[in-house]
Amino acid sequence: CGIVAYIGEREACPILLSGLKRLEYRGYDSAGIALINNHQIHVYKTKGRVQDLEKKLQEINTHAHSGMGHTRWATHGEPNDVNAHPHTSMNGKFCLIHNGIIENYMVLKEKLTRRGYSFKSETDSEVLVNLIEYIYLKGGIDAETAVRLALTKVVGAYGLVIMCSDEQDKLITTRKGSPLVIGVGNREYFAASDATPIIEYTKNVIYLNDDDMAVLRKDGLTLKTRNNDMLAPDIQQVDLDIEKIEKGGFPHFMLKEIFEQVYSIRDTIRGRVNLEASEIFLGGISEMLPKLLQADRIIIVGCGTSWHAGLVGEYLLEELAGIPVEVEYASEFRYRNPIIREKDIVLAISQSGETADTLAAVRLAKEKGATVLGICNVVGSGIARETDAGVYTHAGPEIGVASTKAFTAQIAVLTMLALSIGHKKGLLSDEKYRNYIQELYHLPNKINEILKKDEEIQQLTLLLKDCPNAIYLGRGCQYPVALEGALKLKEISYIHAEGYPAAEMKHGPIALIDEKMPVFVIATRDTYYEKIVSNIKEVESRKGNVIALINPGDEIVKDIAQQTIEIPDTLESLSPLLTVIPLQLISYHIAVLRGCNVDMPRNLAKSVTVE
Ligand code: G6P
Repeated sequence: CGIVAYIGEREACPILLSGLKRLEYRGYDSAGIALINNHQIHVYKTKGRVQDLEKKLQEINTHAHSGMGHTRWATHGEPNDVNAHPHTSMNGKFCLIHNGIIENYMVLKEKLTRRGYSFKSETDSEVLVNLIEYIYLKGGIDAETAVRLALTKVVGAYGLVIMCSDEQDKLITTRKGSPLVIGVGNREYFAASDATPIIEYTKNVIYLNDDDMAVLRKDGLTLKTRNNDMLAPDIQQVDLDIEKIEKGGFPHFMLKEIFEQVYSIRDTIRGRVNLEASEIFLGGISEMLPKLLQADRIIIVGCGTSWHAGLVGEYLLEELAGIPVEVEYASEFRYRNPIIREKDIVLAISQSGETADTLAAVRLAKEKGATVLGICNVVGSGIARETDAGVYTHAGPEIGVASTKAFTAQIAVLTMLALSIGHKKGLLSDEKYRNYIQELYHLPNKINEILKKDEEIQQLTLLLKDCPNAIYLGRGCQYPVALEGALKLKEISYIHAEGYPAAEMKHGPIALIDEKMPVFVIATRDTYYEKIVSNIKEVESRKGNVIALINPGDEIVKDIAQQTIEIPDTLESLSPLLTVIPLQLISYHIAVLRGCNVDMPRNLAKSVTVE
């Protein structure tokens, strides 16, 4: 979900609406704002998109200098007007927006019901706002103390902004497990779940830590711990430009981000790959290098696309750096009792750096005494801060819900990591190392060559847009690429798709193949080439519709596949960075042809801050 709040001298409503639009990628089941004026809290909310909310507000006087807005990804209660945030307490004293989950809300709800409280929605957040009001009215205390006391009764995760009608000159913000950034302007303050809605107004931000509580007034801010001890605010500069979070002439963020990969990979390797000296230097983890060189095992944790990057990483780290790797879904890892030995290293991969399951996996690994490293895109995010060390992907903000450039940036980091360890361990000769570095450095040009085929790829998708199912096949490091290709298709076009290791197909999925079934096969000329050619023949003989990714001049596959897309030659371990690009474009074009909302696919959210 997305949070934005404002207090200052400007009109709050337009700031909140434009902030919510920037945050919509975090959730778009419903949207709402609360404004405070003359000690009255006015709440406007609606199911659906921010633009629906905007329409609703057209006829209304929204004059106020303080307010907050929320865009929701539903957890408790279906997405409708009532369940949308903000939530107001029964007697109208308090109003809040909440990201996260109140785990013990049922118990709290029962207690409040017994004390005469009734509830309009099914949400856990409404329970919290009433709890705060109950404590406030009963104790005759100020709003801040009431919030502090209420939170001692709460089990769960939250990023919160709270307003009180008796104290309209302030916004109370606090967090635990869900991100919150404060923007520090000139006689104005902002709060948001990430910096994107703030940077238009100020680059000065404070990242709240868990259990920090910031009270914002237009003429000042106080930062305290939950125990009421004063803290000195650590104001940082965000390095984010407004152009980077706009579409820049592309019809969708996703397409922009696919095309940006030429530059984002350059940004990922910039300052880290030194072509002349044939050296790779990853500053963020340089102190951890001795541990990495000694590591018995690396356990990679992540979710979604980041988990797929982890699988590519497994291949790279085993192949190039000689370290055994296990890749785990963070959500599984955190609830097992994983065995972590002294020389194991846990590596968390996350674009947002705030995925709840991945963050929990990081914490568990730390509890168990592991060295925990991170690969994150969002600077200053929770996972980036909680890991012992890490490497930022520097792919720039990724707004499209389906991850594209973050995936290739994660792989680029994993490649640099594997290469530098492999070389230091003496597993890669100087010559091989130099070769890899040269090739990695020039890879963005090859990505560019693939992007030039966009029209050709779009043409090809005209024939595929109505298929109900699709299969993606790959072997070796192309197997995770097949998984990622299938995930991209299902996420944004709602076509059921499965990724499989090509050889595994004959153990089940082959039963699905008929002339209507598109089978995307990554058939680049690598160690597995001959095997994959046999797999293609298996599909062909069942009349499947093979669309193969091939290297230039591959007449063999051209002969047997229905369609082919040429990918420039590169070193085998680097090729996932190329083969995923046409698969991203295929999904994009199919989704557009099917009239789907590419940047905001149904039911999904960019940052999943709940488990
Ligand atoms: C969500 C997003 C995916 C993403 C996953 C993990 O499901 O929709 O695109 O891959 O979360 O997110 P992370 O930010 O941890 O990489």
